[in-house]
Amino acid sequence: MSFYTRLLRPPLFRLDPEMVHACSIRACRFAGMIPPVRAAFDRCLEVSDESLRTTIGGIPIKNPIGLAAGWDKSGDATRMLGHLGFGFAEIGSISANPSKGNPKPRLFRLPEDRAIVVYYGLQNDGATVIARRLQMAGKCAVPLGVNIVKTNNGPDAPDDSDEDTLHDYVRSVRAVAPHADYLVLNLSCPNAKGGKDFFSDTANIGRLLARLAPERVNPPVFLKVVPNADPAFLEGLIEQAAPYAFVRGFLFNLPPGKPAWLRLKTPKSVWEKMPGAVSGAPVAESHNACIRELYPRLPPGRFEIIGVGGVFSAEDAYEKIRLGASAVQIYTAMIYEGPGVIRRINEGLSRLLQRDGFRNVREAVGSAHAGVRVG
Ligand SMILES: Cc1cc2nc3c(=O)[nH]c(=O)nc-3n(C[C@H](O)[C@H](O)[C@H](O)COP(=O)(O)O)c2cc1C
Repeated sequence: MSFYTRLLRPPLFRLDPEMVHACSIRACRFAGMIPPVRAAFDRCLEVSDESLRTTIGGIPIKNPIGLAAGWDKSGDATRMLGHLGFGFAEIGSISANPSKGNPKPRLFRLPEDRAIVVYYGLQNDGATVIARRLQMAGKCAVPLGVNIVKTNNGPDAPDDSDEDTLHDYVRSVRAVAPHADYLVLNLSCPNAKGGKDFFSDTANIGRLLARLAPERVNPPVFLKVVPNADPAFLEGLIEQAAPYAFVRGFLFNLPPGKPAWLRLKTPKSVWEKMPGAVSGAPVAESHNACIRELYPRLPPGRFEIIGVGGVFSAEDAYEKIRLGASAVQIYTAMIYEGPGVIRRINEGLSRLLQRDGFRNVREAVGSAHAGVRVG
């Protein structure tokens, strides 16, 4: 048991989850302004190991463990994100216009499942304000991704036209691309109207990419899509993305609602009162299935997968890497295990690579497939 799980987590878990989240962002923003605090966190959390150095979308990263989108939604704490032991960090989702998100309560814990139910609905300060904030904060100490989504105008807003949806992304890309090392287009937010249904038709993903092509998008772009392991969907996705050199890979988002295959241990009477999608341990298996199906279909060297969903340990991260992920992100594990989990995953991953004779994490990517390629 760590200091966090023994002494900090019990009182924190008695407080409102959204309030704890907001306080942790404020604390990180403040800590990030004080150089000796940043240095102290570096000393405690950083793992320096050549075998973990790799690249994602052509960007060098010191280790393959990144922060997933949704923690620092409006880029408030980027000065600190590079000092928590991560190899890279992603902020957002951000949208062209500011959004208040869904009504509260909208964040819940399921400790029995090591899971979170999230119904935030994409609250953020909007691309223009966030772009200015990123500029003021200066370069993040690790590569910074900005995750972009269509503005959530609320459940009662009239339906968006296709043109509105596409243009919303274009506006955000224009605003934040100069401040990002990579971009993620979130095409599948489980908790907002519009967007996710629109992009379940992969032809609409192609339409968005065609709209972005004339923008000469400089940072590499990743597409965050529904967790769907259906070969027809994955092949459609690759086909739509292939003509656009700026698209460098894929991630899988949370599934909407509480599908039966999550096999939640928490009684239904508890979670059925909680609107939203489930993150953490229950999604690990389904996300691994998506990576297992996608990786062998990728044209070699053209696209990469960022594995995310239910990573709590080095073994979890290693499994995603062996299935085909070039890097891995975490979120829920930080809530349950504290920031020390980042160091533990990196140290453990280094040991697993050594055990299996890999000199570098790159050699382990996709090794579970033993040469199998589809198509
Ligand atoms: C509270 C919370 C908020 C999230 N917000 C976003 C978001 O705004 N955009 C996004 O692409 N993913 C968001 N996610 C999904 C995470 O980025 C990640 O894909 C998912 O939680 C699976 O990883 P995990 O099991 O390590 O948490 C959110 C997740 C949580 C728990």
